[in-house]
Amino acid sequence: MFANKKIVENFSLSEHIVVYFGDCLDLLRTIPNDSIQLIVTSPPYNIGKEYEKRLKLELYFNQQYNVIKECVRCLSPLGSICWQVGNYVEKGSIIPLDTVLYPIFTNFGLKMRNRVIWHFEHGLHCSRRFSGRYETIIWFTKSDEYFFNLDPIRVPQKYPGKKYFKGPNAGKYSCNPLGKNPGDLWNIPNVKCNHVEKTDHPCQFPVELIERLVLSMTKEGDWVLDPFLGTGTSIIAAIRHKRRGAGAETVERYVELARKRIKEELDGTLRTRPMDKPIYDPKEAGNSLKISPWSNPQEDKQLKLIEYFDDHQTK
Ligand SMILES: C[S@@+](CC[C@H](N)C(=O)[O-])C[C@H]1O[C@@H](n2cnc3c(N)ncnc32)[C@H](O)[C@@H]1O
Repeated sequence: MFANKKIVENFSLSEHIVVYFGDCLDLLRTIPNDSIQLIVTSPPYNIGKEYEKRLKLELYFNQQYNVIKECVRCLSPLGSICWQVGNYVEKGSIIPLDTVLYPIFTNFGLKMRNRVIWHFEHGLHCSRRFSGRYETIIWFTKSDEYFFNLDPIRVPQKYPGKKYFKGPNAGKYSCNPLGKNPGDLWNIPNVKCNHVEKTDHPCQFPVELIERLVLSMTKEGDWVLDPFLGTGTSIIAAIRHKRRGAGAETVERYVELARKRIKEELDGTLRTRPMDKPIYDPKEAGNSLKISPWSNPQEDKQLKLIEYFDDHQTK
């Protein structure tokens, strides 16, 4: 369905892949009402990353309000909006952006379905507060008739062979044989350092994070839109599963990166971390640093002290 598709610059419902170089509001204004099944994005957090100017919070919220308003207009009545955000930080004091953006969505009549915690291991090491190791995805729908399909994103059960042992279902599986609901706490590595998807962009989505949303909230042929496209991850996740993808990006360098990665995806050469690959466990991987060097000798010393003390007492 997608192998021979072109990447075009302007939105049209008859296209399959749209990468718009420019402001997302300009792209959004060209998209018909009620036409997009999934809008998924990570907007700038207003924390002074290389692609953003730090704005007064009020101005930042106004900008977000204008983008969200246009997104709601474009969203299908069966559709979903997923806004992925972290914290705004000022002089060491944090404001979780989902809490302040929440009223914008609900004032447009959207209903919140989940606040997914995306947990990861890498990030800044803080010295005056606990290091931030999660961000959130706030998921809203336009109506109660929204599309949601759990089956393609189920994860293995903890006890897959568990059966009812009494009652009318005795002997039958007590769990869903297709796997369980992944829940609302997702442990997915973020794209830092050695991650196979790492580019020059400072905060890419991992493709597997968006695949989960695409697979559960859209059908083949549906449109997936990312107003703050960055390196094109949302389009990659969409076309990988035969959905159409569109997005806007204001920085030319990232637009080029997005096009390159999308072409690699179409050719089948883009390297990504597979969905549901287990999280790296240093012990299981045989990492030589199995026990921290400072605890082992210390434990030893403590033991010897106790042994000595016991010896001493019994004498
Ligand atoms: C948090 S990053 C998104 C990264 C993306 N999720 C990915 O996987 O690469 C936000 C992006 O929005 C872009 N951006 C900022 N303001 C924009 C605007 N008004 N319209 C379109 N893109 C914008 C920035 O250049 C940046 O690349």
